[in-house]
Amino acid sequence: MAQPLVSQFSHSLSGTVRVPGDKSISHRAVMLAATAIGESRISGLLESADVIHTVQAMAALGAHLERDADGTWTVSGTGIGGYAQPEGSIDFGNSGTGVRLVAGLVATTPIKTIMTGDASLSRRPMGRIVTPLELFGARIDTAPGGTLPMRIIGAKDPVPITYTLPVPSAQVKSAILLAALNTPGETTVIEPVATRDHTEKMLKAFGADIREDFGEEGRRITVRGEKELHACDIHVPGDPSSAAFPLAAALMCPDSRVTIRNVLLNPTRTGLIQTLHEMGAEIRILNPRQEGGEIVGDLEASTSRLEGIVVPAERAPSMIDEYPILAAIAAHAHGVTRMEGIGELRVKESDRIAAMAAGLAACGVTVRTGEDWMEVDGIGGCIPGGACIETHMDHRIAMAFLVLGLVSRAPVTVNDAAMIATSFPAFVSLMRSLGARISEPQQGAEA
Ligand code: S3P
Repeated sequence: MAQPLVSQFSHSLSGTVRVPGDKSISHRAVMLAATAIGESRISGLLESADVIHTVQAMAALGAHLERDADGTWTVSGTGIGGYAQPEGSIDFGNSGTGVRLVAGLVATTPIKTIMTGDASLSRRPMGRIVTPLELFGARIDTAPGGTLPMRIIGAKDPVPITYTLPVPSAQVKSAILLAALNTPGETTVIEPVATRDHTEKMLKAFGADIREDFGEEGRRITVRGEKELHACDIHVPGDPSSAAFPLAAALMCPDSRVTIRNVLLNPTRTGLIQTLHEMGAEIRILNPRQEGGEIVGDLEASTSRLEGIVVPAERAPSMIDEYPILAAIAAHAHGVTRMEGIGELRVKESDRIAAMAAGLAACGVTVRTGEDWMEVDGIGGCIPGGACIETHMDHRIAMAFLVLGLVSRAPVTVNDAAMIATSFPAFVSLMRSLGARISEPQQGAEA
């Protein structure tokens, strides 16, 4: 059943919060711990619907995963090449990262895996991983159009590959690196544009034979396969893509100051902070430190006057999930914000260019779009609002418009906020604890 929510003008947001664990790191921690020999412990795991689907997938492949009373997960892995034949199909829910990375893991083990997902995931392209995984020797069938359901018969005698990413995608890169683990010899992925590097970092921590170098074509990552992974303890830092929402609210709502503790600040993920600094945001990075091979820090944001800017295409991979909230911020800023090189947004949980453009227009904001760009005319203050927004089963569209409602003259309703549980189950309670007015619509109320 759809879960509508409404947000209303709010001011004086204040407090110190922690956002849940990073989604990308959580998926990878579960997958690698479930593949390693021995017992790994994962603390700070994001226990959202997406990650729980990955936990269930790895259990179906024969790993043992258990949540302890204190929230730490203990995982005993199968060993490289040790996956069991799963019974029936594996459902990945809404999660592109889950399905694409597990596809890499199973592509080089001789088992048959049938993968399904919800209506949103079943529209997303799988061809981008099917092409390289078939080069390893896997046999893969998808629905017409290269979508789920997908059946993978893993290669019995996989062969290593060298592959240049045609799209800047950490999911495609990771699927290949994970397939390489059970492949003899050296597999190399070349990425012309750097994308998030959590798979590489975590593979090192689990003892994989992996190295990187930089050539004219870009970054080359090479894995020598068939080496066992050893168990490793992982502490998952806070997700910068979730932190983006309270951060944006603090910048836009009058008289606000909010601190968000323990946020991942890996440079492949901090494009939004750079962009907001260029727009004039008062965001301070406090206490930057190294934790478990990643940089983390605390973010302090206060109400700021923001100016529109051009966000260059080369920055897109480092803030790819942050464009919905940036578009909301741009609507409130002074002047025009232009976002370039964002074609990948068309194949996320929804077509995010179309969803943001339609929602902003309904709230009284002028937006222009092309195949891979978007321009938002900032209102320079409160948005008219007063619309009911279609979220298209996309958690980040839902959260972006709920934040926009906090700086709107008339309340903003989202038609279905249920998908927020895929990445940030405590979003509403966290925002309310800061003073944000987000609630269930009154019975019979019109947006
Ligand atoms: C992710 C990579 C990105 C991102 C997604 C998580 C990952 O997708 O949008 O939310 O964990 O590797 P692409 O690799 O498709 O760009």
